[in-house]
Amino acid sequence: MTIHSNFSLKKYNTFGIEAKARQFVAAHSVDELKTILHENKTETKFILGGGSNMLLTKNIDALVIHIDLKGKKIIKEDDDFVWVKSMAGENWHEFVLWTIDQNLGGLENMSLIPGNVGTTPVQNIGAYGTEIKDTFVSCEAMTIATQEMKTFSKEDCHFGYRESVFKHEAKNQFIITSVVFKLTKRNHKINISYGDITKELEKQNVITPTLKDVSNAVIAIRQSKLPDPKELGNSGSFFKNPIISKVAFEKIHALHPEMPHYVISETEVKVPAGWLIEKAGFKGKRFGDAGIHKNQALVLVNYGKATGQEILNVSKDIQATILKEFGIAIEAEVNVI
Ligand code: EPU
Repeated sequence: MTIHSNFSLKKYNTFGIEAKARQFVAAHSVDELKTILHENKTETKFILGGGSNMLLTKNIDALVIHIDLKGKKIIKEDDDFVWVKSMAGENWHEFVLWTIDQNLGGLENMSLIPGNVGTTPVQNIGAYGTEIKDTFVSCEAMTIATQEMKTFSKEDCHFGYRESVFKHEAKNQFIITSVVFKLTKRNHKINISYGDITKELEKQNVITPTLKDVSNAVIAIRQSKLPDPKELGNSGSFFKNPIISKVAFEKIHALHPEMPHYVISETEVKVPAGWLIEKAGFKGKRFGDAGIHKNQALVLVNYGKATGQEILNVSKDIQATILKEFGIAIEAEVNVI
C-alpha cells in the first residue's frame, strides 16, 4: 500500500473536478484498511468511496482513504430468497447486473445509478419506485477510531428519503466495508408502477417483463435523461425533491395546476425540484463550464474545466431563485466538500 502526496482526485469524483488530496491511499482489503487507520491515528482522514455524490470545492487537507474493497457472493439461501453480500468497493451497477444475471430480484429498478455499493446505504439510494432499504438486510462497518467492526441492521440505519444514520449520529465515525441484500429467487415483485417504466416497456413491446426487461427499461430511461459521468461530469440529482406543507403546495398549485406532485401525508406534499428549476428558466443554461443539464434540470454538469466553487455558485443561484419565485427552499443532495 502506497501513500501518495499531492494526489489529483479528478478521476475519483464523477463531477471530474480537479482537486488535490494532501495524501491519498487506497485500501484493498479490510486488513489493509485496519492498518491504515491504526498507523495514521492522529491524521485527519477523509473517506472516499465511488466519488459519485460529492462536489469538491477545495483541495483536501487530509489523508484521503479510497475504499477499494472487492468481492461479492451468495451467503445464504432458502426456497424463495438469496442473501447476497457485496464488499463496499464494488461498482453498484455491475453488482446490480450480476444479481440480474442470476435471476435475483429486487435491485433492477436501481440499474445504472453511479457509485459504489458501500455508499448506497448512506443516502438510501433510490430510483423508479424502489429504494435500497427495500432489500437491505445489514451492513458491516469499521469504527474509524478503534478499528472495531460493527454490524448495522436495517433498523439501526434509520433510513428515510435519501437519509440514514450515516448522515447524522454515525457521521464520520464509520467506514462501511460490506452490505448484505435479501433478493428474490422466484415470485419476483416486478415494480413498473413508475410511469416512465411502463411507457418504456410498451415502446419495446414487452408484455410480461422479466428482471432483465425492467433493468433494460430503466437503463434506457436513465440514458435518455441523465448524462454519463464518463462523458459529462455530474453527480446525478444535485438537489433533493423538497417536501412542503399542503398549505404552501395549494398556493403554488393554484398558480401552476400542471405542477407534478406526490402526496406524502395528510399535511405534506413532495414536489420535483427538477420541475421548479425548469420553470425558473435554468434548464440547459451554461455559465462558463458549469451548467444545468438540458434533459434533466435536477442535474448540474461540468463541461470540462469548471471548479467546484463555480458549480456551487450556480447551485446557490438556483436555490435563491427558487426561494424567491416559489417560496421553497431546495436542499443539496450531494455532499459539498
Ligand atoms: N421534471 C421536469 N423538468 C426536469 C426534470 C423533471 O419538469 O427538468 C418533472 C418530470 O417531468 C416529472 C417530475 O419532474 O414529472 C419528476 O421527474 P423524474 O421522474 O425525472 O424524477 P426526479 O424527481 O427528477 C428522482 C430522483 C432520481 C431518480 C428519479 C427516478 C431525487 C432527488 N432524484 O428524480 O435520482 O433517478 O427520481 O426515480 O429523488 C439521483 O438521486 O441521483 C437520481 C438521479
